[in-house]
Amino acid sequence: MSVKLTGIFLDTGRIGEIRKYLSLGIVHGVTTNPTILVKDGITGGWVGIEKHCKEMASIIDPLPLSVEVTTNEPKEMRDQALTISGWAKNINVKITIHGPEGGTENLELIHELETKRNIRVNVTAMMSAQQCLLAAMAGATYVSIFGGRVNNMGYDSRQEVRRVRSLLDAFGSSAKIIVGSTREVLNIVEWFEAGADIVTVTPNLLEGMLVHPYSKETVKMFLDDGARLQRL
Ligand code: E4P
Repeated sequence: MSVKLTGIFLDTGRIGEIRKYLSLGIVHGVTTNPTILVKDGITGGWVGIEKHCKEMASIIDPLPLSVEVTTNEPKEMRDQALTISGWAKNINVKITIHGPEGGTENLELIHELETKRNIRVNVTAMMSAQQCLLAAMAGATYVSIFGGRVNNMGYDSRQEVRRVRSLLDAFGSSAKIIVGSTREVLNIVEWFEAGADIVTVTPNLLEGMLVHPYSKETVKMFLDDGARLQRL
């Protein structure tokens, strides 16, 4: 595969987790959404969101932070996108591929933000390769497919990620493929193998990726024998 991997992003709003995994050098960006911010206890309305997102952006600078708009009303969405992108230079704006009833307004806004307003967009809540292709064609910097939700619907997310990869490559698109909605440790490697540029991971799964029971046992053996060696 000729793709250059961008790496692991953290799918979280928790400052402590961001600092922890950033210091290991294994995280290359952070993604959030309104549900994550609610779950992670962000309060204070729009002011609270701004304060928290600015803090996250400054901690990870120059790595990218995705912040999602909280409305689907076209004018408000545009205003929010302009505001959010102004909070920090490393913030990109997350916009869903369409609204709760479908429609083309979101794609139009995505195109406008990327091509006329020089704002980086992460198109989110996508479940299929064909949606990702349209988002990339509209000019999106990042196309986010929700692998875990695809699996939950009974489809194989790896196949869908492979399709996105080959379509974007065929069109010479520079859009980065983010696969999110991680549910299992295995997802991380399997989605990279399928062609993801980025997998955005919940912090608990990163620990599962790192720690292996047999490594623990092996290290304990080394330490026990190291101590014995001192006494010989
Ligand atoms: C991706 O950017 C999203 O924040 C996230 O992965 C959504 O996943 P979910 O299916 O757990 O809501």
